[in-house]
Amino acid sequence: MVFEMSINYLEEQLYSKNLFLHEEYLEINYIPEILLHREQELIMLSKIFVKILEDPFLISRKISIQGEIGIGKTVIAKTFGKMLLLSAEKRNLNIHYIHINCRKEKTPYNILNRILSELVCNIPNRGYSPQELTFFLEEFLIKSKIYLVLTLDELNYLQKSHYNLIYSLSRCNESSLNKRNYLSLIVIVRNLALLGSLDDSTKSTLQGNILSLKKYTKEQISNILSERIKISLKEDVISPGLVNYIAANIEASGDIRKGLNIIRNATKIAETREKNHVDREEIDIALQNVIPNIQTDIFDILNYHQIVLFYSILKIIINKGEQNISFLEIKETYNQLCVKFQQDPRKNTQIWSYIQQFEKYRLISVNTVSKNIRGRKSYISLSDLPILSIFNELKKKIRDFNSEM
Ligand SMILES: Nc1ncnc2c1ncn2[C@@H]1O[C@H](COP(=O)(O)OP(=O)(O)OP(=O)(O)O)[C@@H](O)[C@H]1O
Ligand SMILES: [Mg+2]
Repeated sequence: MVFEMSINYLEEQLYSKNLFLHEEYLEINYIPEILLHREQELIMLSKIFVKILEDPFLISRKISIQGEIGIGKTVIAKTFGKMLLLSAEKRNLNIHYIHINCRKEKTPYNILNRILSELVCNIPNRGYSPQELTFFLEEFLIKSKIYLVLTLDELNYLQKSHYNLIYSLSRCNESSLNKRNYLSLIVIVRNLALLGSLDDSTKSTLQGNILSLKKYTKEQISNILSERIKISLKEDVISPGLVNYIAANIEASGDIRKGLNIIRNATKIAETREKNHVDREEIDIALQNVIPNIQTDIFDILNYHQIVLFYSILKIIINKGEQNISFLEIKETYNQLCVKFQQDPRKNTQIWSYIQQFEKYRLISVNTVSKNIRGRKSYISLSDLPILSIFNELKKKIRDFNSEM
């Protein structure tokens, strides 16, 4: 039986304006064929790893990739992994590339489990410790003569107490009887310095080779976005002038992901308005609605005084019910809290450098009204954050810290 309907919205959608050619190419996980403006970095990675293609089992490499949000850390590792696999296949080498995101697999157990399941061997059921799983992995690689290039992405999501995983993985090689190597490691973090104090073995693993990705310039952002637009939208949907406009808007952060989201949202808005192209108006709406990319994980790595300071900022804003608070107000509240918690407060210069750090992570914005150092007048306002939930989270953190001290 066919139901009669006055309007079939599905049918309507089918015939409505469609400005996308391949919307999926605007997705964040899509790996573009060509990685623009990262040639030098790909060459550097290739130089580091090229020996693997001569005789994989002779060497083991460790490299850390660092750089700010959305500037292509993940995509460069994945692109390199793809190149490596192509070259290995050509030479009949048994090389595997596995990319693990520690935001998804937060514990050594989960990480090892993922690696083992990707290598498609029989995963031991349950009840194994990470040490046993590492041993199992090592045995498996040796037995199957597999060389593994492993990327641990967003490593900062792995709890510090679990960092010995990095060490044990990087030693996977040496402990084997025949002294061959079976594993190379690529680690990705936003900022190595933010990992805080590391034990010596982890430090030497992470800080041996460092590839620091620079932010893209405005022109580079324009080029990258234009390439994406070419494959994902119909012709002439977004003009080159508007691409430059988007690039100028995201230049400060350099975050390509934000740019892609703006393009996608603006195009959707233009579609609902039944237009056949995007105008600046739609871009502006998309710009306003883009969720700011904050590192919420930042609160896991701030030190005690930074947390108390940020907590003070939130406290004042909540109490006053308004943004734009002064440095002096923050210092007063911070000092009071330090007295309450029986801590020596940090000096002005240190507090100021913490505040600048917060700004760098886009937690706050600082508006300096007078540049005179003595009478520096700065107003601090908060980025678009879920204030109350962060406030409560920090309160808990401070409580935990205080009870440990
Ligand atoms: N040079 C480039 N050419 C084409 N696309 C790029 C380039 N650099 C980044 N992108 C695209 O920008 C988006 C963000 O990149 P990516 O996910 O690699 O950032 P990230 O540095 O890993 O960010 P995060 O710190 O949040 O993990 C992805 O969709 C990626 O494909
Ligand atoms: Mg990433």
